[in-house]
Amino acid sequence: MPAALQLSSNARLRWGADGRLVADGARSTEGIAIEAGDVGFLERFAVAADPEAVIREHAPGAGPRLRALVDDLHRIGALVPTGGGLVDTGHFADPQRQLALLWDSVRMTAFRRALERCAAGRVLVELGTGHGVLACLAARAGARRVFAIEETSMIDVAREIARRNGLDDRIVFVEGNSLDVELPERAQVVFGDLMGADPLGAGMLVYLHDAATRFLEPGGTVLPARLTLLAVGVDSKRIARETDEARNWLRGAKELSAAYGLDLAPLEQASRSAFARSYDTFSYKELLDPATEGDRILTREVQVAEFELGRADPARAAEALLSFPVERGGTLNAIATYAAVELDAETTLTNSPHATERASAWGGQFLSALPPVEVAAGATAEVVAEVTPWTSPAVRYRRRSGEAGSLFDA
Ligand SMILES: C[S@@+](CC[C@H](N)C(=O)[O-])C[C@H]1O[C@@H](n2cnc3c(N)ncnc32)[C@H](O)[C@@H]1O
Repeated sequence: MPAALQLSSNARLRWGADGRLVADGARSTEGIAIEAGDVGFLERFAVAADPEAVIREHAPGAGPRLRALVDDLHRIGALVPTGGGLVDTGHFADPQRQLALLWDSVRMTAFRRALERCAAGRVLVELGTGHGVLACLAARAGARRVFAIEETSMIDVAREIARRNGLDDRIVFVEGNSLDVELPERAQVVFGDLMGADPLGAGMLVYLHDAATRFLEPGGTVLPARLTLLAVGVDSKRIARETDEARNWLRGAKELSAAYGLDLAPLEQASRSAFARSYDTFSYKELLDPATEGDRILTREVQVAEFELGRADPARAAEALLSFPVERGGTLNAIATYAAVELDAETTLTNSPHATERASAWGGQFLSALPPVEVAAGATAEVVAEVTPWTSPAVRYRRRSGEAGSLFDA
């Protein structure tokens, strides 16, 4: 937990319909349950404060609960470290992770060309500069100024790279999360690669919308311009294996009743609910290969949703009934989601399993488990997609109502 936290000036706190506290404009608008007695506790963070000191003064006996509350509010970005603050651990603070981003030449070349088309003579803002190379390439392409924002300690490396390459007179490094920083002037271009394992899970819509509103001149350019979420239906061997294992545990729970001569149904029921909770949203990243038999793609690709970046409202949930034309028979037990990202009118990047050139740094496709159903070639599989851009996973799939709802129905 950081030594000093403050309520984010860009996150607007409000009570959601379900009585939970919601921070609009933060990293996530996931609601956080707040007890009435804790509102005063939160008010203490209107100015920067040490959470441990506030907990000691507010309710020393409630330390663990209040610490968990502070962690939750910090996680969604409602409480932020004072003065932006740098994250010096985790995924993107790891130099090896940054090297992997640079090895993705398909992605880097696409961004480089798009920057060469729009940077000359302009002020640009990069959201999440990481290693700083794209900011340097934008400066080389003639940008008047680049504000390079980064929330991890990697910013020190990026700063040094810009200095060694004589570009530090045009790149202004800004420490902190983009939601929490202010810039001294408006830009003509906002850009950044904020794709997550789950395409929207790294906050792409939230960050680009905030930056387009606060950093961009009217009519300015957002790069990437458009994101299309795409999906295929899959027969996933891994999901089949893992759900089978869970079912075996549940069968085992029944046998335990006999072993002890006691009715252990409440434990079996609790386990069933716990499995359902974790597996109904079970998801993982996989590199699907249409040519292999591991995870078989059964359906044609369908479009799940399309977002005009910078404009799309990240707080808007949507639901769509998707019809997947089945091309190969099998057990449909997962949906794989991926993205096609239009940088500008000339270039689109994708991690589609069907593409010959993929953005490798985005990894594979995002698989979500679905109650299994046998499908035959020529049929249509109907699945409901629920898109909540501020959560991860941002897209959840379910069978249509009236059909088996859970993987672990008794
Ligand atoms: C996928 S990497 C991209 C790095 C580099 N710009 C590139 O395209 O290769 C995303 C970087 O953005 C940072 N980041 C993500 N969201 C951010 C935000 N809202 N504000 C500041 N930094 C952010 C991460 O720490 C990470 O270094």
